[in-house]
Amino acid sequence: MNTLTAIRSRKSPETFLSTPLKRETITAIAEAGNYAPIFGHIHFTVLTDPELLQAVNDRSIEMMKQSGNEFAEKMANTPGYSATRNAQAMILLSAPGGHDAIGFAMANVSCAAENMCLAATELGIGSRFMMGPVMALSQEPIRSVLCLPEGYEPLVAVALGNVEGKCSQRKKEMNNVNWV
Ligand SMILES: Cc1cc2nc3c(=O)[nH]c(=O)nc-3n(C[C@H](O)[C@H](O)[C@H](O)COP(=O)(O)O)c2cc1C
Repeated sequence: MNTLTAIRSRKSPETFLSTPLKRETITAIAEAGNYAPIFGHIHFTVLTDPELLQAVNDRSIEMMKQSGNEFAEKMANTPGYSATRNAQAMILLSAPGGHDAIGFAMANVSCAAENMCLAATELGIGSRFMMGPVMALSQEPIRSVLCLPEGYEPLVAVALGNVEGKCSQRKKEMNNVNWV
C-alpha cells in the first residue's frame, strides 16, 4: 500500500474485534509514531493488558456520565457503549508539562498519532484517534499504573485492534480548500 492509498483508506472503526494483536505489529505502529515530525519530546505508553483496558473503559464511561456534557452523557448511557471501542491495544501519547500555550505539545502528539493510524492502516489493523479516555488515564487509580516519565502528561491516545473486513479507499469532498 502506498502512502496516499493508506491516507485515503484510514477509517476509525466503530468497534474492534476481540482477537489480540501481535506484539511486533504494535511495536511497528509505535515506531511509526516516533518518525513523525516532533519538535521536542513525547512519550509512548503501550497498554495491552485486558484488565487495564477494561479499567480505562469503565472509568471513562463513569467520567462521561458525570461530565455535564449532554453528548458525552448520552453516549455513556447507550447500552453496550464502549469508550475504548473494545480496543485490544492503546498507545497513549504524553508530553512534558502537558498542554502548552502555543500548542506545540498537542501538535507533536497529534503528528505521532496520525503516523500510527496510517501505519496501522498499512498493516491491516484498525485504529482510532481518541481523546475521551485521556482523562481516565491521567488520573488515579489508573495513572500510577502507567509509570509515566516524571512531569509528562497524557494528551491523546490511539486505540488499535483487528476489524471486520478490509480497508478500502474513501472519497472525500474537497470543498473546504481555497487557493490564494
Ligand atoms: C481530536 C479528536 C478526538 C477524538 N476523540 C475520540 C474519542 O474520544 N472517542 C472515539 O471513539 N473517537 C474519537 N475520535 C475519532 C473521531 O470520532 C473520528 O476520527 C471521526 O468520527 C472521523 O472519522 P474517521 O476517522 O473515520 O474519518 C476523535 C478524533 C479526533 C480528531
